[in-house]
Amino acid sequence: MKLPAHVQLIDVAPRDGLQNEKQPVSAAVKIELVQRLQAAGLTEIEVTSFVSPKWVPQMADNAQVMAGIPRLPGVSLSVLTPNWQGFEAALKCQPNEIVVFGAASEAFSQKNINCSIAQSIERFAPVVQAARDAGIAVRGAMSCTVGCPYEGEVAPQRVAYLAGLMKSIGVQRVDVADTIGVGTPRKVQAALEATLQHFALDEVSGHFHDTYGQALANTLAALQMGVWNFQSSVAGLGGCPYAKGATGNVATEDVVYLLHGLGIETGIDLDLLVDAGAFISQALGRPSNSRVGAAVLSKRAA
Ligand code: HMG
Ligand code: MG
Repeated sequence: MKLPAHVQLIDVAPRDGLQNEKQPVSAAVKIELVQRLQAAGLTEIEVTSFVSPKWVPQMADNAQVMAGIPRLPGVSLSVLTPNWQGFEAALKCQPNEIVVFGAASEAFSQKNINCSIAQSIERFAPVVQAARDAGIAVRGAMSCTVGCPYEGEVAPQRVAYLAGLMKSIGVQRVDVADTIGVGTPRKVQAALEATLQHFALDEVSGHFHDTYGQALANTLAALQMGVWNFQSSVAGLGGCPYAKGATGNVATEDVVYLLHGLGIETGIDLDLLVDAGAFISQALGRPSNSRVGAAVLSKRAA
């Protein structure tokens, strides 16, 4: 089993994690969360999204949050931009990377961004072009690469199709997302293989929700293919308002514990990461969804 020596993590808790929270979370708390993630050694953080506040009210403070984050050299902050309007607003906040987000299933595309897959690509194309002209990196998130809450199982060919479209408009790297966490290792590997028809290994990342408790196993399966970029969420926060029943992303603490145990370097300080998870869990008034976070905290208390 040949595993990568280094793994690059993007913590998506401020965006994927908090977008799903019904209770309002203040901009100050979001800013402190990002600062704590930076302090723990995360060098890529998905901060917010420039989507319609009617669709996702929790992200309405996007500009305020971006403006409040002390920018550190070597740390890349990314934001979601579904269309030109979102991109124009995001541009003022100087993100290091923007994320266009599409789906491998038609039904999810309609529910999530109110257009077909083909229409989404038409919308993304000028955004991708303008971002690259402005020197901003472009990532593409691909939802429902294993299963869809509306269409059920999604064939790898659908994933390859979307990856090809993303590549054709100049997206530089893509996230293979198991939006509703139904994937098991072989199925996730098939989605990654389909993506690798169009993107190089260095351009592909895993984004696994943990609804069925398979996300760490799926992470290991991706590592075995040589994938070394992953998204995860501190305290296991996350979910998509348009994927009912889907729970959080795999917890960053749990992924870091797995990786360090395998001798894979991440640049992340697990103790400071656990502190960041404890901070946001306390702000939300509930225990962390991270098994490692809970274990470290109870060991400290003992
Ligand atoms: P729409 O209603 O089709 O947009 O929404 P529209 O162009 O017809 O405009 C309608 C109204 O929305 C107008 O306002 C626009 O100004 C406004 P009105 O005149 O009615 O007052 N509007 C906007 N406002 C702010 N920012 C914008 C924007 N665009 C239009 N960018 C839209 C289309 C895409 C905007 C909508 O469907 C939307 O906001 N969807 C967001 C869905 C979302 O955020 N989902 C969660 C993120 S994806 C995810 O979690 C999955 C991921 O984690 C990977 C995985 O796990 O699968 C990435
Ligand atoms: Mg997600």
